[in-house]
Amino acid sequence: MKGIILAGGTGSRLDPLTRVTNKHLLPIYDRPMIYYPIQTLVKAGITDIMIVSGKGHAGQFLELLQSGKELGAKFSYGVQEEAGGIAQALAVCQDFADNDKIVVMLGDNILQNDISNAVKDFEKQDKGSKIFLKEVENPKSFGVAQIAGDKIIEIEEKPKNPKTNLAVIGVYLYDSQVWQVIKTLKPSGRGELEITDVNNFYVKKGEMTFEILRGWWGDGGESFDSLLAAGNLVAKKK
Ligand code: DAU
Repeated sequence: MKGIILAGGTGSRLDPLTRVTNKHLLPIYDRPMIYYPIQTLVKAGITDIMIVSGKGHAGQFLELLQSGKELGAKFSYGVQEEAGGIAQALAVCQDFADNDKIVVMLGDNILQNDISNAVKDFEKQDKGSKIFLKEVENPKSFGVAQIAGDKIIEIEEKPKNPKTNLAVIGVYLYDSQVWQVIKTLKPSGRGELEITDVNNFYVKKGEMTFEILRGWWGDGGESFDSLLAAGNLVAKKK
């Protein structure tokens, strides 16, 4: 299985911190943000990793992360021409994935716990996708899942009236159908190709499994407060 970390986007919610650099290079305690998703993938045995960033900052990632040797990984780099959404950034990686199953991580998601078991389960999963859900206090800021038993019924992207408090976190496991699905997407109201639309494709086909994530989870890019909270959580752990 191959790994993909998406680190494009404008980071506008963290302006002016992101005016001259990329959000994923900002510090979370003692490391740049992107180190944490890299560590999560490497711990799960995924070391062949492609990192996608926007045009302006691609060189900084290469300078910081280089071949990946220092972190026990092998990095490839991709460039997203414009910030057209998470699913658009993912599309850059189709050739890299070479029809393998993939684990996609958003570069601003920080997880306390290991995802190795979920990755192993997904290796055995015949086809489809697997995502992680986490109870949150502010579901309006996330993709929100409705479940019935062990099935997801629907995911809504940043709903005004969330039906549950189960956020879809930024770690997505996909089979190779994902590449065809992305080609069918239309930009959402905010002008982006939405990863939630990709996930709902698998939900509708009955090929989406999920796990409730244990341990804390931080979306370091959501707000100044979430950036601070992620740093504090990491500091406490260390
Ligand atoms: O953190 C989990 C949430 O991430 C999910 O619950 C939502 O369903 C999902 O849409 C996403 O929401 P955000 O509003 O937090 O997404 P954001 O625009 O902050 O982008 C998240 C990461 O995706 C960002 O750190 C880098 C990458 N990205 C984003 C965009 C828009 C790209 O690589 N390219 C892009 O064009």
